[in-house]
Amino acid sequence: MARHVIAKVEEVDIGKSKLVKVAGRDIALFNVKGEFFAIANRCPHEGADLCRGQVVGLAEADEPGKVRMTRHGELIRCPWHGWEFDIRTGKSWCDPARTRVKSFDVSVASGGALAEGPYQAETFPVSIDEDYVVVEI
Ligand code: FES
Repeated sequence: MARHVIAKVEEVDIGKSKLVKVAGRDIALFNVKGEFFAIANRCPHEGADLCRGQVVGLAEADEPGKVRMTRHGELIRCPWHGWEFDIRTGKSWCDPARTRVKSFDVSVASGGALAEGPYQAETFPVSIDEDYVVVEI
C-alpha cells in the first residue's frame, strides 16, 4: 500500500468534494465537517460519478409525517438514481451488508512532514508551509 498526496486542505471546502485520479483509479474526496474521506467515484448500481452527487443528511422518522434530519452532510446521493452512501464508510444506507463503495484511508499531513518523509506528491510538488490530504491505496 502506498500513500499519495491528493489535494491541499484548502482546495476542498466543508460539504464539497473533489475528483482525483490516483494509481489509475477515480476517487471522490469529501470534506465532512472538516474531516476528509475518500471513496471510489463509481456508483455500484450503474456506474455514475459519485462526486457529482448531492451531499445530504439522513432523513429518519419514528412515525409517518414526523421526519427529522440527522447526520447533516455525511451521505452522498448518487446523481443518477438516488442511492445514498455513507461518505465515512462507503456503505449503502439501504443495504449496508451487500452494497458498498470502496473507501480509502485518508489523513492530513503538513508539507514539512511530507517533504522529510518517504512520500511523493503525485499531483503537484509539496510546499512545506501548507497541509495536504493523503490517501492510502
Ligand atoms: S447509478 Fe447510482 S443509483 Fe443508479
